[in-house]
Amino acid sequence: MCGIVGAVAQRNVVPILLEGLQRLEYRGYDSAGLVVIQDGQLQRERSTGRVADLRLKTTGTHGTLGIAHTRWATHGVPSERNAHPHLSNNLIGVVHNGIIENYESLRTRLSAAGYVFTSDTDTEVIVHLIHSHYKNGASLLDATRTSLTELIGAYALGVIAVDNPDQLICARRGSPLLMGVGVGEHFIASDVSALLPVTNRVIYLEEGDVAEIERQSYRIFNASGAEVTRPVQVSKISNESVSLGTYRHYMQKEIHEQPQAIADTLESVCNSTSIIPGIFGAEAAASFDAVNSILILACGTSYHAGLVARYWLEEIAGIPCTVEIASEYRYRTSVPNPKALVVVLSQSGETADTQAALNHAMALGHVHTLAICNVAESALVRLAKLRFLTRAGPEIGVASTKAFTTQLVALFLLTLVLAKQRGRLTEAQERQHLNDLRHLPAATQKVLDLEPKIAKLAEQFATKQHALFLGRGMHYPIALEGALKLKEISYIHAEAYPAGELKHGPLALVDKDMPVISVAPNDVLLEKLKSNLHEVRARGGELFVFADANTHIRSEDGVHIMQMPEHAGYLSPILHTLPLQLLAYYVALQKGTDVDKPRNLAKSVTVE
Ligand code: M6R
Repeated sequence: MCGIVGAVAQRNVVPILLEGLQRLEYRGYDSAGLVVIQDGQLQRERSTGRVADLRLKTTGTHGTLGIAHTRWATHGVPSERNAHPHLSNNLIGVVHNGIIENYESLRTRLSAAGYVFTSDTDTEVIVHLIHSHYKNGASLLDATRTSLTELIGAYALGVIAVDNPDQLICARRGSPLLMGVGVGEHFIASDVSALLPVTNRVIYLEEGDVAEIERQSYRIFNASGAEVTRPVQVSKISNESVSLGTYRHYMQKEIHEQPQAIADTLESVCNSTSIIPGIFGAEAAASFDAVNSILILACGTSYHAGLVARYWLEEIAGIPCTVEIASEYRYRTSVPNPKALVVVLSQSGETADTQAALNHAMALGHVHTLAICNVAESALVRLAKLRFLTRAGPEIGVASTKAFTTQLVALFLLTLVLAKQRGRLTEAQERQHLNDLRHLPAATQKVLDLEPKIAKLAEQFATKQHALFLGRGMHYPIALEGALKLKEISYIHAEAYPAGELKHGPLALVDKDMPVISVAPNDVLLEKLKSNLHEVRARGGELFVFADANTHIRSEDGVHIMQMPEHAGYLSPILHTLPLQLLAYYVALQKGTDVDKPRNLAKSVTVE
């Protein structure tokens, strides 16, 4: 989703802005632009396509105050005229992330007042609105603050004025924005990775904050207009953790980081023989005692993690669990159960639909809320009463990988805590589960060692248009996740079904051109699954099976078996995810797609 960078410094900020934009590329975008004050004028450059194209256009551009943006089109097609920054009367420049819902009425009003619109964006109303107040004598801060009271919607904003060359104004509501604190220079950005080359000292702005930033000082005002102090935090994210290293793509790097990410996420239990509710927050024990069911809300890959957890929560902890897609739940008339624990799952913690779903649940009277999230400072973590931070580290590739497996680890821990609290876990069982969890990093590493074989297998998908994924029980969501990975980065149309559903419709699709990928764990459903695989083979379908040891499924003509190193019991969905991630990755390489930035997709979906 859109990315913002801004800087006020004593040096030329153009390289800082460009580097920041490049580092925000992973969020997804279709055009980019920047504006600086150069020789007393607003000097703007914009381009569709990559930040690299913008870099070429800005070789002669310089200035000590500037704002920059990568745009992901919402209102108006991706084009240079719609790219940010937007200007008003060559006096004010604005970059914006979010959506202004009342832009049509504002546009009508501003047009009647003589403002000429040069784009189809909702953002352009903001810059003209600020201009309308600024030209009447308000300071840039006050002109921005007054304008914000007229906006309905979500925004993160950077604002500059040509006759105010030492000041940058920024504001956030519903979209992420932080400030970077340097020595004699200050910055703004959508996330910390953009600023790491210049500073790791950051201030996370809160909902409704507006800041007036100069080289040597800054002032922050909260949503009620009062001046406030926000803590300067030293970001733990290192430059190294967001650099590609020797990997070809971030997705590949992040797939390989899973053993470490899982080990880090398990840190709170690594030396214990028992598990306590406190790992979910100080008030967790009381909340868990009070709840009688679980409602999981999430989107995309995070939703799939929730689907796996339902099997664990009901079977191990004996607690009823429903899992809903956040964008559906927020608009559905549901029957709230105030005794349910609402669990929101999100890598970014900024997904607009998941945030809205949590707000909706709270408005319905839900008081027991837990965020499982990979970003400590995110909106969801701040909103929920309880929290568990996955320790996957920054995930840059649009396709979520290590965030998913660490979410599963967190959800398994939640299952164990709830099972224990409900008297459904003996000490011996608890110890065994904890041992199994501690073995996971090593077990995932063994699966990753299959990479060369999976790369070879992927060659057979180079010409395919469609694929069918099958799984049963708690591996059905893994089939869904495998299909999502394949479609989002290789653009092959992929569907996933619980294998038992085949004969109720999808079997009609099976022929020699439809590869069928199956997850075959050595569990109670194995024999059922084998029958389903026979149904496929009998129709000429080509099978690609990721099978545990001792499943006795043999390779033969039209049946390709990839032997998994070991069976992990309840944790098997985590292990079976990895080969499907690798398969999608290598198929995408075959197809020559932009693996880390697939077309039309954004990393953080911060708009509805
Ligand atoms: O940051 P979140 O986990 O809330 O994101 C939810 C989805 O947008 C995300 O998982 C998306 O489906 C991924 N691109 C899938 O790989």
